[in-house]
Amino acid sequence: MTVHMPKKILVIDDEVYIRDSVIGFLEDFGFQVADAENGKIGLELFETQNPDLVLCDLRMPEMDGLEVLARVRLKNPKIPIIIVSGAGNISDTVEALRLGAWDYIIKPIQDMNVLYHAVNKAFERADLILAKHRYEEDLETANRELRLSLETLERTRDQLVQSEKMAALGELVAGVAHEINTPVGVGVTAASFLDAKTTEFKKIYAAGELKRSEFENYLQTVEEVSNSILINMERAAELISSFKQVAVDQSSESRRQFNLKEYINEILLSLRPRYKKTEHTIEIDCEPDIELNSFPGAFSQILNNLIMNSLIHGFQGIQKGHITVTISRQGKDILFVYQDNGRGMNKEEKEKVFDPFYTTMRGKGGTGLGMSIVFNLITQTLKGSIECESSPGRGVVFTLKFPEHWENG
Ligand SMILES: Nc1ncnc2c1ncn2[C@@H]1O[C@H](COP(=O)(O)OP(=O)(O)OP(=O)(O)O)[C@@H](O)[C@H]1O
Ligand SMILES: [Mg+2]
Repeated sequence: MTVHMPKKILVIDDEVYIRDSVIGFLEDFGFQVADAENGKIGLELFETQNPDLVLCDLRMPEMDGLEVLARVRLKNPKIPIIIVSGAGNISDTVEALRLGAWDYIIKPIQDMNVLYHAVNKAFERADLILAKHRYEEDLETANRELRLSLETLERTRDQLVQSEKMAALGELVAGVAHEINTPVGVGVTAASFLDAKTTEFKKIYAAGELKRSEFENYLQTVEEVSNSILINMERAAELISSFKQVAVDQSSESRRQFNLKEYINEILLSLRPRYKKTEHTIEIDCEPDIELNSFPGAFSQILNNLIMNSLIHGFQGIQKGHITVTISRQGKDILFVYQDNGRGMNKEEKEKVFDPFYTTMRGKGGTGLGMSIVFNLITQTLKGSIECESSPGRGVVFTLKFPEHWENG
């Protein structure tokens, strides 16, 4: 239950007759009234009593009403002040209003209802101002909280994007290790075979039992085996250099010059471990002379996400999935069309595919960030656009478009 304290009014007037009649009248209406016979005492009471409204005469000894008004407002600019002034003091009344008085009443007060009305009106207005103030404060608090949660959300999103990137990098590294294992393994076997053959050959030679046919045999072995070592080491070196570039690009955001077709082939090479044991195929058709000064890491992430989505979502239950990527110039833009012949998406999936955290694989390893990252990369980093076309059973088509050149990207 809220208890309403009676409102406190301070009456400052040097005429005792006016004070008494005003006080009596206001007290009858339940107000609590304090009174002072001059401005100086009035100000002291204002400090000690802390009234809700001040009723103040203009012409008084010691300190006139205008000064009281100025000082009261200095202490509390929001306090309602009603001036009581003689009919002849129009210019002072105007000055009082200019200094911040809320209202005025002409003395002698012939109809006390005028006083009652002025006081009530002032309190109503003060209440309204207070409510508005509280509302603004609430709004400000709500805004602050919203800003804070937005900042937290943005930070969380950045962290998620970062950890998604790191996860992709981790997968890439695992893939690299696996892929390089084969040529290095073959190389080691071949080299140790050569080593064993050479030891045997040296023994025969030292014993002076070397026959021409054995020498020729050894030479042939050396030639074949060293050729095999060379091929396998070259393959490993090639893998390492393309993985290295893709991995560096994927973890950094730097801009550099590169040939789009060559780069896409490198990305594909790094993705090969993810699908080489399946019957799925990927076909790239790219104009060979597109030289971009752009962010290779963005391309690697885009293609990575698109291909992984086809492999994980699109080709669910499909044995021979096929992906085509067609890249061509269209005026000043590069048109990048990505297509798979997988299960496709229904209307809801298609509408939400770029929404952050939308996934149909919740709890099975999907975070739902992949396509929203693709969307941000293409629209913000590459200053382009992306559209999705799909229906159930008809695969997906993602059409990406971005400018071939732009200033100060
Ligand atoms: N090629 C596709 N074929 C069918 N559905 C797709 C394809 N690509 C995306 N989707 C649908 O869009 C959803 C959102 O894709 P997105 O890449 O954003 O998230 P995710 O793959 O589920 O999780 P994450 O990529 O974060 O690991 C997927 O869950 C899937 O339902
Ligand atoms: Mg995905």
